[in-house]
Amino acid sequence: MVRLVVATCLLLAVAAILALAAGEPEAEAMTSYIVHVASSHAPRPSRRRALAQAAYYASFLRDHLPTHLLHPTPSVHYSYTHAATGFAARLTGCQAAYLESQPSVLAVVPDAMLQLHTTMTPSFLRLSALSGLLPASNGAMDVVIGVIDTGIYPKGRASFAADPSLPPPPGSFRGGCVSTPSFNGSTFCNNKLVGAKFFYLGYKALNGRLTDETDQSISPLDVNGHGTHTASTAAGSAAAGAGFYNYGKGTAVGVAPNARIAAYKVCWEHGCADSDILAAFDEAIADRVNVISYSIGPVGKVPKLHRDGATVGAFSAVRKGIVVSASAGNAGPGESTVGNIAPWMLTVGASTINRRFPGTVVLGNGDTLNGTSLYVGKPLDATKIALVYGGDVGTNVCEAGKLDKTLVAGKIVLCDHDDENEVAQGEAVKLAGGAGAIFGSTEDSGELPPTSPHILPATTISFAAAKKIKKYISTHSSPTAMIMFHGTVVSRTPSSPRMADFSSRGPNLHAPEILKPDITAPGVDILAAWTGKKSPSSLDSDKRRVKYNIISGTSMSCPHVSGIAALLRQARPDWSPAAIKSAMMTTAYVLDNAGNVIKDTSTGRASTPFVYGAGHVDPNRAVDPGLVYDAGVRDYISFLCALGYTSKEIGIFTRDDSRADYCSTRTGSSGDLNYPAFSAVFHSDMDEVTQRRVVRNVGRNVSATYTARIISPAGVRVTVEPRKLQFTATQQTREYVMTFAPRGDARVTDKYTFGSIVWSDGEHKVTSPIAITWPVSQVAAS
Ligand SMILES: *[C@@H]1O[C@H](CO)[C@@H](O)[C@H](O)[C@H]1NC(C)=O
Ligand SMILES: *[C@@H]1O[C@H](CO)[C@@H](O)[C@H](O)[C@H]1NC(C)=O
Ligand SMILES: *[C@@H]1O[C@H](CO)[C@@H](O)[C@H](O)[C@H]1NC(C)=O
Repeated sequence: MVRLVVATCLLLAVAAILALAAGEPEAEAMTSYIVHVASSHAPRPSRRRALAQAAYYASFLRDHLPTHLLHPTPSVHYSYTHAATGFAARLTGCQAAYLESQPSVLAVVPDAMLQLHTTMTPSFLRLSALSGLLPASNGAMDVVIGVIDTGIYPKGRASFAADPSLPPPPGSFRGGCVSTPSFNGSTFCNNKLVGAKFFYLGYKALNGRLTDETDQSISPLDVNGHGTHTASTAAGSAAAGAGFYNYGKGTAVGVAPNARIAAYKVCWEHGCADSDILAAFDEAIADRVNVISYSIGPVGKVPKLHRDGATVGAFSAVRKGIVVSASAGNAGPGESTVGNIAPWMLTVGASTINRRFPGTVVLGNGDTLNGTSLYVGKPLDATKIALVYGGDVGTNVCEAGKLDKTLVAGKIVLCDHDDENEVAQGEAVKLAGGAGAIFGSTEDSGELPPTSPHILPATTISFAAAKKIKKYISTHSSPTAMIMFHGTVVSRTPSSPRMADFSSRGPNLHAPEILKPDITAPGVDILAAWTGKKSPSSLDSDKRRVKYNIISGTSMSCPHVSGIAALLRQARPDWSPAAIKSAMMTTAYVLDNAGNVIKDTSTGRASTPFVYGAGHVDPNRAVDPGLVYDAGVRDYISFLCALGYTSKEIGIFTRDDSRADYCSTRTGSSGDLNYPAFSAVFHSDMDEVTQRRVVRNVGRNVSATYTARIISPAGVRVTVEPRKLQFTATQQTREYVMTFAPRGDARVTDKYTFGSIVWSDGEHKVTSPIAITWPVSQVAAS
């Protein structure tokens, strides 16, 4: 394969010479690649800094490429030392293919553009200054959270002010803030914001340039809002009187109120380049942050583990004891949409809290339909006015310039869902003279319409509700409606938490025996700090500027878990990243506030572990889990071997000097990784799957005895051996084996069935979900 590419490149080179002779020099296009180099061929990780390393790799390229491939001249834009071994460079396809055939090169991965995937939540998480994890961890005073995102906007944001009582950052921290014309590190940084750096060379290499260098301010400054939001959610200082206008008003505070923030900006106008992300991991590891919060993911199909920069970087981070919390993605509710799937990452789904921002529609016939809105202007009069459907007055999705003004003026317009920003659709209605608007959602979004900061009296309703209104309009001669806004409503109904329709779901595309996502946390309508450089709707025409904004996404749930990881890191300094993750997962809950299994807003029915993972994070229980499932680099290597990764591919992660044959002595299944969840795949109805686990006693009781209780998935016989685990010391480990076998009489009609195992000593409940994937033939036959 490689040889073929190289041969083609030779032909191309000949063609190029001929073309040159003919007077039409046509250089092959260059783009950005990440080149993973065997560590025996890497520069010594010595006193010499990045510049020397880049020079080393420039000469590495000269030495490794044949003369005919030295033009156009490749250029190195990053060298990697801590997160990976190698460099990022602009190369032609032929240069890249040639390099990949070299024994000193482990892989050449095309750079890719990735995408970005607050007051109430600490109390929803039951964090209290009086008891539990918050006081036990001193608010994570000695922990630095590295936030890899769109940068930070600290100007006038109380979330990033340092309380005078906050001492300087921990002595181990090596990072700091850079200064640029638009970001004065010495004024913006303090004992709360302890790091601010930016990475754009990969973006520039992929995109040709930054689209607008002044607007995007090549600096750590956040001109997007996303990074400011996530950082303040994880570790913002308490900010009194925060709110989006009057919505969600209260004191906004991060989950780990005393943790420090180091911002690494990697995202620019059109996305986030993989090579920049890997550079940020490299830097964050060198800076010795303790937790990395990563609310970014690939576009489209999830890449294999070794071909994703963040996954490689996260492996190196976890090896250094850094917890990496990552967003699951917003590609739900389809199957196998979950991203950031490596077992060494903590992958977070998104769910609701007990707060809503209702905007209801009352029709002329008295029907009331629930909706949601963050409209802040003058409401419509409390009388019903004429209602029209966009489809009857020019455009069903209320496209700008296509609405008939004479038919829209003074009326409420119902618009169908469009992929465009809803606030922009509302603007089109406003420009056409409409008095108000009602937006339908996608069918997938079920009972959770997205909340938008509308610029005219408007609300967003479900697909089903929009259908109802359309029917009403088409069957009444003079339809009317009224929209009412109810401000901020905190209540027990509807039940909470509920899984967001958009939250990406399992099964895990590349490692089906690792259950993903791992956990869920608040990610719907989250209030947190915002940039002064962009409107709350992100529309240029929206001239509003706010200090706090309310947005949704797994990007918002991830930093909640990052904050909890910071609290645990401080409260339990000897725990590994895997132990911290295990503690959160085995103590998570799966019942909502009404005592039912957490619902899925896309269907209104009970959700599953492929949506919520182990369940909703419960920080106060996570500090005392009783048992933990630990794992380290060696376990992850065995896991990669079991999945069929080659030694060369595994070398990208391990970066060991020897060209070791990692998989020669290892056998077993990827399901044997010591994970705090079970996922088994049946290939036939005769299949029997065993998975081994080891638990460590981290409870206070040296002589604890744990007994297993199993809730078997439908159609499955689950056995556990032994059923009792007797400990005689703390930190002692005990092994057990789970066996999953289809029941002979199983009549399974679902592709997936679920159960759980709970180990209990009377004081702790150590719970792991079980997911079974049935062979398609078996399900069809039922
Ligand atoms: C940054 O702020 C400090 C302190 O206010 C000031 O002395 C310095 O001149 C500023 N630097 C720049 C580049 O504006
Ligand atoms: C609308 O909201 C109210 C108040 O929360 C609730 O009682 C009602 O069931 C909701 N209706 C629908 C159709 O969801
Ligand atoms: C320790 O665990 C054992 C067995 O589960 C139990 O009998 C005993 O009471 C526990 N001791 C304490 C101090 O909780």
